[in-house]
Amino acid sequence: MSTIVAPSLLSADFLNLERDIEMLNRSEADWIHLDIMDGVFVPNISFGFPVINLLKKVTKKPLDAHLMIVQPEKFIDEIAATGATYMNVHLEACMHLHKVVQEIRKKGMKPAVTLNPHTPVSMLEDILPDLEMVLLMSVNPGFGGQQFIDNSVRKVTQLKEMILKQQTSTLIEVDGGVNLETGRRLVNAGADILVAGSFIFSSGHPEETIRMLRAL
Ligand code: DX5
Ligand code: ZN
Repeated sequence: MSTIVAPSLLSADFLNLERDIEMLNRSEADWIHLDIMDGVFVPNISFGFPVINLLKKVTKKPLDAHLMIVQPEKFIDEIAATGATYMNVHLEACMHLHKVVQEIRKKGMKPAVTLNPHTPVSMLEDILPDLEMVLLMSVNPGFGGQQFIDNSVRKVTQLKEMILKQQTSTLIEVDGGVNLETGRRLVNAGADILVAGSFIFSSGHPEETIRMLRAL
């Protein structure tokens, strides 16, 4: 089975977004990863609904929405209306995570919880059976092109052990600093999905780069 690859649009050319999405449509990319930031939860602002509602008309791949915002529960309806398949909320941003997860599912999306690099995997023990996916951040969220945090590989191993122990079918996604070298280590540790932004879009041949990541 090939590794699921979710290119992050954060590193696309925003002046030629349609062209880049059409490239992803042609490619073997499995999903499209959307990084939504508010300038509060993370020190950056990316794009919001006016852009997402346009790009969803041209994309042919499932959307994986990663909300780097405070109070993500306020936007469950809007994200559902974009047709997103996955809605990732940060554990650190949710006071009532269990409730938020149930609401995401009620709106027809697959709930996923994201952990910042400092948050231990053990925080997920009581919520794991309710999740379709866990997204482990391997950089501090907010920007593309940062250096991979090495401890993330160990966190994938720990999460995989927890999943096997609890016998859930939760997927493990990793986001930040992913390239062929870090990607291989993550897949070997148990990662199912690799998010990659700068590595794909700054490579001379993005479609070939996606193929190589899928082959890890
Ligand atoms: C960071 C985002 C990532 C980012 C990854 O806050 O969540 O999805 O686009 O970028 P790279 O792959 O360049 O580290
Ligand atoms: Zn992301």
